[in-house]
Amino acid sequence: MPDRLAIRPAQGKLGVLTPGMGAVSSTFVAGVEAVRRGLRLPIGSLTQMGHIRLGKRTDARQPMIRNFVPLAELGDLVFGGWDIFEDSVYEAAVKAGVLDRTLLDELKEGLDGIRPMPAVFDNYYVKKLDGKHVKKGANKMELAEALREDMRNFRQEKGCDRLVVIWCGSTEIFLRRAEVHQSLAAFEKGLADNHADIAPSMVYAYAALKEGLPYANGAPNLSADIPALEELAKKSGSPICGKDFKTGQTLMKTILSPGFKARLLGINGWFSTNILGNRDGEVLDDPESFKTKEESKLGVLATILQPDLYPDLYGNLYHKVRINYYPPRGDNKEGWDNIDIFGWLGMPMQIKVDFLCRDSILAAPIVLDLALFLDLAGRAGLSGIQEWLSFYFKSPIVAPGLYPEHDLFIQQTKLKNTLRWMMGEEQITHLGREYYEE
Ligand SMILES: NC(=O)c1ccc[n+]([C@@H]2O[C@H](COP(=O)([O-])OP(=O)(O)OC[C@H]3O[C@@H](n4cnc5c(N)ncnc54)[C@H](O)[C@@H]3O)[C@@H](O)[C@H]2O)c1
Repeated sequence: MPDRLAIRPAQGKLGVLTPGMGAVSSTFVAGVEAVRRGLRLPIGSLTQMGHIRLGKRTDARQPMIRNFVPLAELGDLVFGGWDIFEDSVYEAAVKAGVLDRTLLDELKEGLDGIRPMPAVFDNYYVKKLDGKHVKKGANKMELAEALREDMRNFRQEKGCDRLVVIWCGSTEIFLRRAEVHQSLAAFEKGLADNHADIAPSMVYAYAALKEGLPYANGAPNLSADIPALEELAKKSGSPICGKDFKTGQTLMKTILSPGFKARLLGINGWFSTNILGNRDGEVLDDPESFKTKEESKLGVLATILQPDLYPDLYGNLYHKVRINYYPPRGDNKEGWDNIDIFGWLGMPMQIKVDFLCRDSILAAPIVLDLALFLDLAGRAGLSGIQEWLSFYFKSPIVAPGLYPEHDLFIQQTKLKNTLRWMMGEEQITHLGREYYEE
């Protein structure tokens, strides 16, 4: 048996802080509260409902993941965060309209007490929003210091043993990696100089990492995925991962396209369009925020299909993604995919997908799993990029020079093998020769 990692036990409370307390964050918090009270099941959460196979198929060892690795209990989670609006989690959840009002009213007492702290925000980075509940500071370094103080105060006031920070804020404008992102020293100077290439999400990420906390980014904008913050994460022992929660249409893409590729079916067109009417949809109506999202959504197919290796099958693939803001739908997005595929001798076929999905319902269990797995990673002494959590993201962060693995099933294998590795269990390769040896 390989050695297991030394993992500190999950004793005491775990604070989950989300910059951004809108639809996703409130659906996550309300959901955990409903599960804790035994009112609903945590459907979609691998940490709560998933099993993991250990050893040989004949060993019949398939424990639940939460009984296999030492995760924080749902009862030990405490919630907080920041937003530019002062709404409590209850009010935000009612406005988001994701969960039914009867359930929210049952949970009101617990949710109404959770109010956001004033945000670090600048309308230059999210053009469609403006809010009054924001911090003031002479420069971005001062704002980062104020966030660090919030984190320390929260930990003390709520009696938390550990904290994790997960960005659930709006999608910021598209930024390219620049000089100021290249080293921690350049970044810290940039914070003091109010450099325009440092977005608010990076200020939160910096503050979390300075405090030695794990940080994940649920949106597609550049945040902790810059050399400066990767350097800081290693230095401070903080696990990081991201970015852009893999829900809805992209989840479907990363389920379907590995199947087509496995059967060597060609694809020459994939047209994806969406209508959605929540605040996220409104923010994405701004071309600069949409560009960030588009880059994240487009990257997936090319890496899964490897057109360079398979030019006859995927060399001419036309991939288009549209998002249309359409208020009547609220959070109940509709995503259409038209996929033009071809088979034996090049004969064309079409597949149509019409996914009437609920974005935040798909995202909430991801926030929960990330909070628990990042906390586990921290207690196991893992720092820097956690590629095994790629499973949850549209644009996984990976080491420089590596291409990200987008195939959901490879990502799942990687995640489960990492858990086995942490706990000193054999890796499962699926070779299976042992069942046929005399
Ligand atoms: N819902 C999904 O399935 C899904 C999937 C992938 C990614 N995402 C991303 O997750 C994020 C949250 O989605 P949502 O549906 O909850 O959106 P939302 O608009 O309901 O909530 C985002 C919240 O972030 C707040 N905010 C913006 N900038 C902030 C800042 N600097 N500091 C603090 N708060 C700030 C906004 O005021 C808003 O309340 C978005 O970026 C979205 O693109 C969502």
